Amino acid sequence: MRYISLFNHSDDLCDGICLSETSIPKPASNEIHVRTLASPINPADINVIEGTYPILPSLPAVPGNEGVAEVIDPGDQNEIQKGDIVIAANVPGWWSEHRIIPADKVYRLPPSIDHFQAACLSVNPATAWRLIHDFVQLKPGDWIVINAANSALGQSLNQIARALDLKVVNLARRPSLVHGSDTVFDDDDSAIQQAKSCLNGASIKLAINQVGGQSSRRLMKLLSPNGTMVTVGAMSKEPITVSGGQLIFKNLILCGFWITKWLDNAPRIDIEKMYDSLADLMIKKELEISIDSSYPLEDYQSAIQHAKRSRKGKVILTF
Ligand SMILES: NC(=O)c1ccc[n+]([C@@H]2O[C@H](COP(=O)([O-])OP(=O)(O)OC[C@H]3O[C@@H](n4cnc5c(N)ncnc54)[C@H](OP(=O)(O)O)[C@@H]3O)[C@@H](O)[C@H]2O)c1
Repeated sequence: MRYISLFNHSDDLCDGICLSETSIPKPASNEIHVRTLASPINPADINVIEGTYPILPSLPAVPGNEGVAEVIDPGDQNEIQKGDIVIAANVPGWWSEHRIIPADKVYRLPPSIDHFQAACLSVNPATAWRLIHDFVQLKPGDWIVINAANSALGQSLNQIARALDLKVVNLARRPSLVHGSDTVFDDDDSAIQQAKSCLNGASIKLAINQVGGQSSRRLMKLLSPNGTMVTVGAMSKEPITVSGGQLIFKNLILCGFWITKWLDNAPRIDIEKMYDSLADLMIKKELEISIDSSYPLEDYQSAIQHAKRSRKGKVILTF
């Protein structure tokens, strides 16, 4: 089988990775043998390859944080059948034609699910689900505010919010790429007044920050007193600066969230319920991640270069 091997971290993305070949490993009794169908190239994958992600695998490693696969051999698992379409929670190493995955990390999806959508389900939609459910009590009609609104995470936040009758103020560098919302603003200081006039005095209790720097300052300006800003990304690579006044007089709560940690600690039943709900939304096309393009595994260099550039959705590796 062919797989991508990361043997050296490098800024020049394709310097430290290569296409390698090995025999397909044999599963143990509590493991499942799957054939990979598709895997996206996420910002975290690029950071791992570059060596800038805070948690790095020991090298050599197989990159790829999420993906979708078809079961080849379910081993001794009764609930999983040959041919099932599955994802896994927190088992990096997706850029490989075949995988052996611990059975307790595998989650079955409806057979009719679109493979590219399924490949993007386990990280961004799951993060959006947790962000909307776990931090602030929101009721129908409530507002949240987010930046990088056209990202896969931003799309997931918008679509899950819509399903729950929540409203979203969207800030984006490229507002034209945020679909299905009429409260989308350029992520610059003009957004603050424009967004406030749309709110008509309504409060915003939750902000989701994927960017940092000036963009996170704008989110804090839009949050209401006692509001919470959850940071999940640092796309601008700039630090979050907060004035004392935002903490003392507005009593903002600033915290972070990492889906990897949540998936590591959550009971299987909670993960299963969340993935079932997300798959259901995907089947109904109420949750749909924009896909920019797909590349076969052997074109990984072009795929990674493309994922690093400006694009209109996810770049997907196919196997
Ligand atoms: N903490 C967690 O558990 C968790 C889970 C999932 C995702 N994340 C994080 O969430 C972020 C989005 O992930 P994703 O997979 O949804 O991303 P994505 O679909 O690949 O989209 C990337 C987004 O980042 C924006 N961006 C890129 N460079 C930027 C910069 N210098 N300044 C401002 N915006 C910039 C892009 O805007 P343009 O389209 O204008 O380039 C786009 O909106 C990443 O930081 C990722 O690591 C965190």
